[in-house]
Amino acid sequence: MEIKLEKFSKSFGSVKVIEELDLTVGNGEMIALLGPSGCGKTTTLYAICGIHRVSAGRILFGDRDVTALPPQEKNVGVVFQSFALYPHLSIYENIAFPLRIRKEKNADIERKVREISATLYMEHLLERRPGQLSGGQQQRVALARALVRRPDILLMDEPLANLDASLRLEMRTEIRRIQQESGCTSILVTHDQVEAMSMCDRIALMNNGVIQQIGTPDDMYHQPRNKFIAGFIGNPPISFIDGAVENGQFTSQGMSFGLPDNLKKASLTSGQKVSVGIRPEHLQPGSENPVAGEVTFIESQGREILYDLKLGDGQMLRSIQSGARTCKLGDRVTWSINVNAVLFFDAQDERILPA
Ligand SMILES: Nc1ncnc2c1ncn2[C@@H]1O[C@H](COP(=O)(O)OP(=O)(O)OP(=O)(O)O)[C@@H](O)[C@H]1O
Ligand SMILES: [Mg+2]
Repeated sequence: MEIKLEKFSKSFGSVKVIEELDLTVGNGEMIALLGPSGCGKTTTLYAICGIHRVSAGRILFGDRDVTALPPQEKNVGVVFQSFALYPHLSIYENIAFPLRIRKEKNADIERKVREISATLYMEHLLERRPGQLSGGQQQRVALARALVRRPDILLMDEPLANLDASLRLEMRTEIRRIQQESGCTSILVTHDQVEAMSMCDRIALMNNGVIQQIGTPDDMYHQPRNKFIAGFIGNPPISFIDGAVENGQFTSQGMSFGLPDNLKKASLTSGQKVSVGIRPEHLQPGSENPVAGEVTFIESQGREILYDLKLGDGQMLRSIQSGARTCKLGDRVTWSINVNAVLFFDAQDERILPA
């Protein structure tokens, strides 16, 4: 079922948190609401499920206007960051809870609880109480409870935030599998871009209550619309170097290179101040489009090594390289920039697109 937000706005008292946000999540699609703390992700999610009243605008599920409907009148499954399980109830009863509220028959409840427990590999846990489960197991219970009534829509608020790294990885795959199997239209709220990139069909990146860009993970990474997006998506993050365009070159005190062919025809004027974004994988050992600097930081990440390169003017570039360590701290090196992959931004932080 399609979810549509039309000019959705939300204020708390006189504080405007969201203003005129438009978002459409296609039938069966899983979209991430991604953004820094306090940008309005949870507020948006709560408005969609009906916990928060909407200040202005409309929310539609398919053709149905659900703007004013309370949560119990929508078939929405919600997973809260805190799990919000009932500690005094068994796992079985926790999962059965939404069905009991709907006064379903015992036999139906039993069948549905068994079914979803099997899907989530937790049949052996049904007699326990939440306090007797690990964080990852509790997370599964929260997910099972959200899914047991076959919701039209699944909303998840930071469902993996409380899990350790390896469990998080496992649950990422698990949630995506179940989402695809059930065909449930889903919104995943997260501030973790890796989670958003790996689990979702599309990402809506928010900042200060405004959606900056909506696109596939690939789009967000390769075609960011502005500097905020380029800086938020990508780990380790992109480096920015401030400089200017002069005589077909990008120039700063610490480096310069000829503009790539695809940007030569873009509307750049000589002397124009620009900022370039260079991702760590686009600075590598080599001699083409050289940039010289001092290695000021080295971190082994296992398969790859992360380096910081301090340029002559003090600006920093980051490089990620596979293979063995090629230099040591304090070394002066000359590496190569893949200029065709460099992103250009104007003085207003908007991306300068190739002509
Ligand atoms: N009930 C409330 N009353 C007043 N202000 C609120 C209320 N709930 C949220 N806010 C404010 O709205 C803004 C957005 O909050 P929200 O919880 O949606 O952020 P978030 O993107 O989910 O952040 P996080 O990643 O930290 O969970 C914040 O500035 C917050 O202080
Ligand atoms: Mg939140």
